[in-house]
Amino acid sequence: MDKIVIEGGKRLSGTIPVSGAKNAALTLLPCALLTEEPLTLRNLPRLADIDGFQHLMNQFGISTAIAGSRPEDFGRVMTLQATRITSTVAPYDLVRKMRASILVLGPMLARMGEATVSLPGGCAIGNRPIDLHLKVLEALGAQIEMAAGYVKAVAPDGGLPGGRFSFPVVSVGATENALMTAVLCNGTSHLHNAAREPEIVDLCNLLVAMGGQIEGIGTSDLTIHGVPRLHGATYMVMPDRIEAGSYACAAAITGGDVMLKGARIEDMEATVQALRDAGVLVEERPGGLYVAAEGKLRPVTLSTAPFPGFATDMQAQLMALLCKAEGSSVLTETIFENRYMHVPELNRMGARIETKGRTAIVHGVDKMHGAEVMATDLRASMSLVIAGLAAEGETRVHRLYHLDRGYERLEEKLALLGAQIERIGGD
Ligand code: UD1
Repeated sequence: MDKIVIEGGKRLSGTIPVSGAKNAALTLLPCALLTEEPLTLRNLPRLADIDGFQHLMNQFGISTAIAGSRPEDFGRVMTLQATRITSTVAPYDLVRKMRASILVLGPMLARMGEATVSLPGGCAIGNRPIDLHLKVLEALGAQIEMAAGYVKAVAPDGGLPGGRFSFPVVSVGATENALMTAVLCNGTSHLHNAAREPEIVDLCNLLVAMGGQIEGIGTSDLTIHGVPRLHGATYMVMPDRIEAGSYACAAAITGGDVMLKGARIEDMEATVQALRDAGVLVEERPGGLYVAAEGKLRPVTLSTAPFPGFATDMQAQLMALLCKAEGSSVLTETIFENRYMHVPELNRMGARIETKGRTAIVHGVDKMHGAEVMATDLRASMSLVIAGLAAEGETRVHRLYHLDRGYERLEEKLALLGAQIERIGGD
C-alpha cells in the first residue's frame, strides 16, 4: 500500500488554493435525486469519497458527467441528472465504505415515496447512530421499517405531509436529510435545534436555487415550505474550512506562513480564534486568509462543539500543533466518544499527551521525532502529517486511503509550500 514519507523540519511558505468542501459536496450531490433536471456542481474536490458517491448515484440510474477539467486543475465540474430512477436501494457494499451514503435516504424518499439504505454500522471514531435521521423522517410523515441490516422509509399515499421536529442533539447529517426531504413535502415543516454548520447553509442555498422555500437559513430554527417540484441548478461548492484549518496548522507548526486562497473567515471563526490564542497570526486578506507563526506557540484550552463552536473535525490537527506549544493545553472532545486515536501515534513521535475520558492534556515538547505511524480516520491521519512536518527526521504515514478520502492532492499542496514529502508505493 502507498505511504507518505515526510522529511520534517522544513519551514512552509507560499500560497495554496483551498479545495471545495468534502462535507458540503457530500450533501449537495444527493440533491440531484430531487429533480429530473440536470444539477451541475462546480468546484467538487477530487476525492475518493466523491468518486464513491458518484458510483452510488450511478447505481440508482442517475447519469453523471464530468466536464472540462484537466488533470492539473484542482476541482471538477460534475453534472448529474436523475431523469429516471431505476433503483431506490443503497446497498451494503457501497454504504459500508462511505457513511455519508445515509444522506440519500431523505431525498430518495421525497422523490420516489420510498428509499432503502443499508445501515452504515460503526466507524472508527465512534458508534455514530442514525436514530435522529429516522426520527426526523418519521416526524415528516415517513414510516420506517428495519429488516436484514437495511432501513426502509416509505411515504404514505398522497405523499409526505411534513411536520415539526426538535433535535435532542445537534446532528449535521440528520439536519441535511430532513432538509432534503422537507423541501418536497406537501406542507410546511419546522426543524428546531437544527445544525447550522456552513455546509448546512451551502445545502440550503442550493435547495433555494432549485426552487426550495426555506426560512431561517444559518440559524438553528428552520421553516421549510414544501413545493411540488424542484428544478435543476448550477452551483459552486463552498471552500473547505477544515482543509483550510488543517493547512493553517501545518504552516504554523513549522513556524511558516501560508496564504489560503479562497478560505472564508466567517466559516472558521472558532479555528481562527484557537490559532490566535496559540499565538499564530491570522489575517483576512483579499481572496483568502493569511496565516503566519513566529516565535513560541502558547497552550490553549477548548472544547469541541457544534458550529459556531470549535469543530470536532479540527481537533486532531490543532492537537498536533499544540504538541509544540510552551505549556499544557487541555482539549475536550464533546461530539464523538472515540476521537483520540491519533494520541498514541503522536506520543510515538515524542509528544506528551495524556487522555482522561473525553479530555486530552497536551504537554508541549521542544522536539518531536519522525516515526512510522498509522491512523484509523481521516483527521487523525492529517494530524500525523502535521506532526511529521515539524518532527526531526523521517515520518512514514501508512493507510493513505483515509487521507485520500478528504484531502485533495495533499502532497502536491504541501510540496508547493516547500515541504519535503512524497508518496511512495509498496507495502
Ligand atoms: C458530520 C460530518 C463529520 C463531522 C460531524 C460533526 C459529513 C459527511 N460528516 O458527520 O465530518 O465530524 O458532522 O460536525 O458531513 N448522532 C446521534 N444520532 C444520529 C446522528 C448523530 O446520536 O442519528 C450523534 C453522533 O453520534 C454525534 C453527534 O450526534 O455524537 C453529531 O453527529 P453528526 O452531526 O450527525 O455527524 P455526521 O453528520 O455523521
